[in-house]
Amino acid sequence: MYGKDRGQPLTIPGLTKLKASGEKIACLTAYDATFAEALDAAGVDVILVGDSLGMVVQGRSSTLPVTVDHMVYHCAAVARGASRPVLIGDMPFLSFRDVDRALENAGRLMAEGGMQMVKLEGGGRIADITRRLVDAGIPVCAHLGLTPQSVHQLGGYRVQGRAEEEAERIVEDARSLEDAGASLLVLECVPDALAGRITESLGIPTIGIGAGPACDGQVLVLHDLLGLGSGPKARFVRNFMADAEDIPGALSAYVSSVKEGHYPGSEESYG
Ligand code: KIV
Repeated sequence: MYGKDRGQPLTIPGLTKLKASGEKIACLTAYDATFAEALDAAGVDVILVGDSLGMVVQGRSSTLPVTVDHMVYHCAAVARGASRPVLIGDMPFLSFRDVDRALENAGRLMAEGGMQMVKLEGGGRIADITRRLVDAGIPVCAHLGLTPQSVHQLGGYRVQGRAEEEAERIVEDARSLEDAGASLLVLECVPDALAGRITESLGIPTIGIGAGPACDGQVLVLHDLLGLGSGPKARFVRNFMADAEDIPGALSAYVSSVKEGHYPGSEESYG
């Protein structure tokens, strides 16, 4: 029996309160009920059912082949396993190309998948779609910096926002997505100073992955934290299994490292 009651569930306004109080937000990805329950037990605040499942679960070379049906399946499994964390489901490639498609597909992640928020990759160009989702009662997490669904346009998985013009564009995009009603912002692979500047300028929490310690919270792909997978690892990845006795120990170490500001370190960030 999954989904053990762990007390008062965390809410989206609760995440904004954590930012205001200075408490860091610990977020991890999960794709099934067993790990969702383990993350909940370890005190993870936010579970992201990421389209990274295309790579770490399905063995693909990018997230592009992931479909809305795949996402609904994994979201529903995660929702059965967790009770306290805020649950976010990723909108896959091309699933939010226009407003109608975005409303229908985000509605499925919420209604069939049991998610409380959906995540959309992209900048100011998706501000309108964000506004329409929020107007329809669907909370939105924005995602800027390295957006893996645009890997081919970006020319690979590389740090974004090093050039001044690019940094200014990311700052502008962050503002316009907050204005459009986004409740949370994932910043992936941007220099830590830029992430710090954005975090200070927004009222909504920022969750970093390869974005340095100044973000309001951190997220990692679960398999990376567990030291799984044979490919090369990004600089920000820390294997929490290396010093842990078991998986619950590694998950708890991640949560306390994020909460106490010990993860990420400067050597795990980009200048
Ligand atoms: O798909 C995913 O897991 C993500 C995180 C890496 C932020 O988008």
